[in-house]
Amino acid sequence: MSAVLEIENLSVRSGETLLVSNLDLTIGENARVGLIGESGSGKSLTALAATGLLPPGLTATGSVVLDGTEVIGARDADLVPLRGSAVATVFQEPLTALDPLMRMGSQIYQPVLRRRRRAGEPAARADIEAEVRRLLERVALPDPDRIANAYPFEVSGGQRQRVAIAMALACHPKLLIADEPTTALDVTTQAEVLDLMAGLVREEGMALLFIGHDLPVVARIVDDVTVMRRGEVVERGPVGTVLARPEHDYTRTLVAAADAFDRALGAAR
Ligand SMILES: Nc1ncnc2c1ncn2[C@@H]1O[C@H](COP(=O)(O)OP(=O)(O)OP(=O)(O)O)[C@@H](O)[C@H]1O
Ligand SMILES: [Mg+2]
Repeated sequence: MSAVLEIENLSVRSGETLLVSNLDLTIGENARVGLIGESGSGKSLTALAATGLLPPGLTATGSVVLDGTEVIGARDADLVPLRGSAVATVFQEPLTALDPLMRMGSQIYQPVLRRRRRAGEPAARADIEAEVRRLLERVALPDPDRIANAYPFEVSGGQRQRVAIAMALACHPKLLIADEPTTALDVTTQAEVLDLMAGLVREEGMALLFIGHDLPVVARIVDDVTVMRRGEVVERGPVGTVLARPEHDYTRTLVAAADAFDRALGAAR
């Protein structure tokens, strides 16, 4: 099975400061991988480096092969087609992906149009509008027509995140990167959006890189997990093994914190 994403020896620096250090991570087709670690451990920078979107001032070394293309050192013009066909990202705050001044249906229209043109599929206005509607239904939004006509500020945070997921799906990516997609949502909405993503990844045959700091949340949606701390990988393995027998002290503290949280929830019920 070929890898959708193959990261080898990735380091990210800001000047002399090492922010991500010698990271290896491979995601096979249809694999679901979690990347967890405390705030500032380098998870988002890893995802940005993987898509060639590091902010100015940061430099990456090593190798990142995304769907067969080397990302590090590539020209942006060579990466644009990859973002969309190979990879799509859903962020913590859906407002970063959505234009506040544009109706949400129009925002999904653009990636659908691009993908259809690229694939040589019919791209008349009616074809695209029908697909936009299907995508909104696909992410279980009630009243897709209202949502399509609404601006981002006119719907709830959970609904906005569903629209952001619909935009990602519009590209039919081989790899979906979700960077803390549910952190900004309340617990019930968080569970709904997670279950939706789990179903979509399975049904659409996408690979998933799911980033989070909350181990039980990540465990719900991935098969394998990589644990980062201070820019380095400290542990990795099947999620059940890492949860049941964490080897690194830091992973133990994550598991203990998650257990304490579960007990507190149980006591509150
Ligand atoms: N543009 C930047 N310039 C300099 N340092 C940065 C920049 N962006 C991030 N960093 C630093 O790199 C480190 C890793 O940041 P990163 O955003 O990857 O953390 P994270 O694991 O995603 O954390 P969180 O869980 O809070 O999202 C942090 O110490 C951060 O302060
Ligand atoms: Mg982050």
